Amino acid sequence: MSTSSLSFSSNFFFLSFTVTLLYVAYTFKGLQPKKTNLVFYVHDTFTGEDKSAVTVAGKTGPSSSILNFGTIAAVDDPVTEGPTINSKRIGRAQGLYINSQSDGKGLYMVFSVIFTDGEFKGSSLEIQGPDIFTMKEREFGIVSGTGYFRFVKGYGIMETEFMDIANLRAVIKLNVTVKHY
Ligand SMILES: *[C@@H]1O[C@H](CO)[C@@H](O)[C@H](O)[C@H]1NC(C)=O
Repeated sequence: MSTSSLSFSSNFFFLSFTVTLLYVAYTFKGLQPKKTNLVFYVHDTFTGEDKSAVTVAGKTGPSSSILNFGTIAAVDDPVTEGPTINSKRIGRAQGLYINSQSDGKGLYMVFSVIFTDGEFKGSSLEIQGPDIFTMKEREFGIVSGTGYFRFVKGYGIMETEFMDIANLRAVIKLNVTVKHY
C-alpha cells in the first residue's frame, strides 16, 4: 500500500468515526429532552393591606366576589421559595383568574410566573389552565416560557397550603415539571 492510500484510509476511518459519534450524540439528545422540576409558593390575597389580587368585573360589577361565577380578577401575587411569606421572594405571579364554573367552584387561570431572584432569575413561565380549588390536588398546563424556559412545555400540580376563605387569602404550592426541546 502506498503512503497516500494509507493516509486516505486512516483519514476516512477517523472521519466516519467522528460522524458516527456526532450522529449518536445528536440522536440521544433528541430522544432525551432536558427536564426541569421546581416547586414554589404563590400568595393570593384579596383583602388587607398586602392585597395582591383585585376583582375587576363580574355579575355585580367590580366588587363581585371571586367565588362567584363570572368574576374576573387581576393578580400580581408574590412568589416565594417556601410556604411562608417571609421565605425568600423569587418572583411574581401576574395575570388573570376568571371564575368559570357555574357553581362558582372553579377558576380558569392565565398568568406568568416572572422570576426575579433565585436559580431562574430573569426567566418566566406561562401558566394556563383550570383551578378547581375545592380539590386537594389539581393539575394545570405550562404552555411556554422565556429565558431558561424557552420552548418548554409541561404540567404542574397545585395544592392549597393555606386557605382563609372568609378573608380570601390563600397560599398555593405549585410543583412544576417542564421539558425543554
Ligand atoms: C412534584 O411532582 C412530582 C410529580 O410530577 C412528584 O414526583 C414530586 O414528589 C413532587 N414534589 C414535591 C416537592 O411535591
